[in-house]
Amino acid sequence: MAEHAVNYVIIVGPQGAGKGTQAAAVAPRLGLEHVATGDLFRAILKSESELGDEVRHYYDQGALVPDDLTIRVLFAHIEQLQEEKRGTTGVLLDGFPRNAAQAKSLDDALAERGEAISAVVLVDVPRPELMKRLTGRLVCSNCGATYHREFNPPKSAETCDQCGGELFQRSDDTPEAVEKRLEIYYEQTEPILEHYREQGVLLEIDGNREIDSVTADILDSLKDRVSA
Ligand code: AP5
Ligand code: MG
Repeated sequence: MAEHAVNYVIIVGPQGAGKGTQAAAVAPRLGLEHVATGDLFRAILKSESELGDEVRHYYDQGALVPDDLTIRVLFAHIEQLQEEKRGTTGVLLDGFPRNAAQAKSLDDALAERGEAISAVVLVDVPRPELMKRLTGRLVCSNCGATYHREFNPPKSAETCDQCGGELFQRSDDTPEAVEKRLEIYYEQTEPILEHYREQGVLLEIDGNREIDSVTADILDSLKDRVSA
């Protein structure tokens, strides 16, 4: 990672708002590494380890993985990136922080390094739309690309347009788990946005439009916030 300017950008929003979809589109254009805690956990689930069993217990129900484990997994990943990817300008965090304790751990970790959050992009979508988006989602088992049966369909219903990998439905995209995940968002995640609003780093984007229009708005809102 570039030593002179490390940008920490957060993308936040309710489940299904399009955080992963938008992060995949904007991160490469801004020279940021897309780091999604959900993706880190899905990789751990695939590994069929003891850690995978522990994560599955929370993940499949739509519950949060305990903070200490989440923070350990995330910071180990960021440190590994910092060693390997010296050409990037920073990190786009997707799915972290999700509660007050995680927000504090991030503030503390950045303060220790003399760094700060450059921007927090809130992609907001009304709640009734979110269930439709999540129960129709398809994800590539190989490259992680995200589709929707109706709103962003792949050319073939079973394979990824980008890499030909098999598409699957996420185990936490059942109506029961989605309800639980949304409850957690409105109870624990939404309240931490005030903290970022007070710091003047919160950028609010209307996510209830075409995917490309949302991408254009995010790039525009970040143009003076992310240094190359
Ligand atoms: P995670 O993977 O982060 O899931 P999430 O927060 O539930 O968010 P989603 O990935 O479901 O939504 P998204 O906003 O990325 O939407 P997407 O772009 O895919 O977390 C999963 C689990 O991991 C958690 O429940 C927890 O167990 C654990 N975890 C993760 N982070 C944690 C943490 N920090 N602490 C503790 N536990 C943690 O889009 C959704 C669908 O909509 C797609 O089909 C897409 O094609 C479609 N779509 C996107 N944009 C549009 C648009 N503009 N119009 C129409 N359709 C659209
Ligand atoms: Mg996601």
